[in-house]
This record gives sequence, structure tokens and C-alpha cells, in this order.
Amino acid sequence: MKSEIIKRPRRLRTTDSLRKIVRETKISKDTLVYPFFVTEGFDIKEEISTMPGQYRWSIDRLYELFERLYESGVKTVLIFGVPDKKDEFGSGAWNENGIVQKALRYIKENYSDIYCITDVCMCEYTSHGHCGILNGEYVDNDKTLEILAKIALSHALAGADMVAPSDMMDGRIGAIRKVLDENGFINVPIMSYSVKYSSSFYGPFRDAAGSAPSFGDRKSYQMDFHNSGEAIVEAELDINEGADILMVKPGMAYLDVLRLIKDKFNKPVALYSVSGEYSMIKAGAKLGYIDEMAVVGESAVCMYRAGADILITYYAMEIAELIKTGKI
Ligand code: PBG
Repeated sequence: MKSEIIKRPRRLRTTDSLRKIVRETKISKDTLVYPFFVTEGFDIKEEISTMPGQYRWSIDRLYELFERLYESGVKTVLIFGVPDKKDEFGSGAWNENGIVQKALRYIKENYSDIYCITDVCMCEYTSHGHCGILNGEYVDNDKTLEILAKIALSHALAGADMVAPSDMMDGRIGAIRKVLDENGFINVPIMSYSVKYSSSFYGPFRDAAGSAPSFGDRKSYQMDFHNSGEAIVEAELDINEGADILMVKPGMAYLDVLRLIKDKFNKPVALYSVSGEYSMIKAGAKLGYIDEMAVVGESAVCMYRAGADILITYYAMEIAELIKTGKI
């Protein structure tokens, strides 16, 4: 029987090898970033209760993590510090013997080919858990800028390859760029959490880092999730102030915003698939409702398809494995 149908999209889906030939989205482990938490103390590898499979590491145990990283081929990390002391001004964040600064020196000495990005923020270091200096209950923008610049400089001095401010103060990229340049760090790039929403998907992270605000929320500095036009304003400001890489955060529920930023600007764009996304997949898998690795692979590919050049995810090592074994 002669068919009337000439155009058949199914033709290119006939076999696995053909489907691979015509794939539009191809991903590489080189663009994966693994976030982890380093804590004060010794002999600590403490599982984060709301993020099974993720740990708080003391520096002396980090070698275990780095062995796994090397095996997986993921060579970029995003470092978060969990200090043992906090104060109103988050002074542990820029101390040259702070937890992140010590971890950086250790990693750079022992694993020099691991590319180290640091989160620049105050919330893990302030007694009140907010991302800046308080004026009453309001986070004072301009006073916070001075501190953020100090934190970024202290990270660069300790060996950070790149800094990533996550606080959402206005003008922070300019303030950080200026202090880095004045101190000879002209080639330390800034990956800005440009488009960071105030999100309940950060819940498990705040357990991990002990950084939940003690009162109120972060809505007066992080973005309102009803908005996407505002994402363009934020990204544009950061580019003008010297940001090298833009980030959109969270991931999964924000892929429309990612596409918007990717189409609008000629800058590398990173997507942060955050703690809550990780924990939801873990929980669903534990209950037997979903196939964990299949869902992880699919969502990673979708994030790249939506425009991510870089993907920051607690599943980075598993995704590298899925790539290696040809599953995605
Ligand atoms: C620090 C920071 C947070 C995250 C990254 N940097 C927490 C927050 O803003 O409350 C969240 C990361 C995640 O949920 O995985 N400001």
C-alpha cells in the first residue's frame, strides 16, 4: 500500500545509534560542578540528614571525596564553609584562617588540578543567618558590600580559582571586581548568582550549612519567583559590573528563566540545581516511586537543553558516570 506520508519524524528514531547521531544536546563532564560542605574539626564525615549521600567534611577527611571526584572525572568544585563560630558580622567569612580559606590552601597544595570556586556569602557565618549586615531587621546593602569584597579577596588570597557571590546585594559584582583588581587578581573570574530567587528549594542546604535565617526570610534581597523580566535587569547589571559567568538558581522549576538569559546575553550561563531538587529525587527513589538514575540523567540533559553551559549539582559525579556509560 502506498503511503501518503512523506515526512516521518519517527524515521530518525529507529535505532539507538541513529538517535545518538542526531541528538541535539550533547553534554560533557567538563561542565559539571560539584558543591560540597567543609567543616571545622577532625575526622568528620557527617551525612546531612535531609540530603542522603551528601556530607559535611573536615579537611583531614577530604581525601576520600577527592578520590571519588578523580574517579568520576569531575574536576570543578564549589566550596561552602560550615564554621564553628558565628557572629553578627559574619567575621569568620573573611578570616584568613576561616574554614574555606584553610580548605582552599589544603586543596591547592594537594590537588592542584581541581578547579576551586567559592561561594561568597555571609549567611553561614552570621548569628542571625542573613546574607548581610543588619540595620534593625533590614539587610543594609552598602555596608554588606564592603564585607563581601573582603570575603572574596580572602578567598583569592587563599587560592580560589573563581569566586561566586550568592548574596544578591545590589552593586556587589562591581565592589568585588574592584577589590580583586586592586590586589592583582585581575584574572580571577566572577561567577555571579545573578538570577537567584528566594526559594523553598534551598531548605535542605540550610540544614546542611546551618544557615536558615533566625527571623524573617530572604525576600528583601533574593528575587520574587513570580518575576522573569526582572531576571534580565539583574543579569544586565552584573554584566555591566564585570561578571564573567551568569548563574540562574534554582534549576528545575526555573528553566524558562534560564532560556531567557541564555538567549539574551552572550555570556556563559550556569544553572544551579539546588539541594531541594536533589533531596526530592532521593526521597522519591527511596520510596520506590521513581528510577533515581534515569530521572537524574533526564533532568540533567533537560537543563543543558534549556541553555545551561555549566551545571552545578550534588549529582555531578553520578551524571559523569551516566555520560561515561553512554546512558545520556
Ligand atoms: C548562600 C547560598 C544558599 C545556597 C547557595 N548559596 C542558601 C540560601 O541562599 O539560602 C543554596 C544552595 C542549595 O540549596 O543547594 N546564600
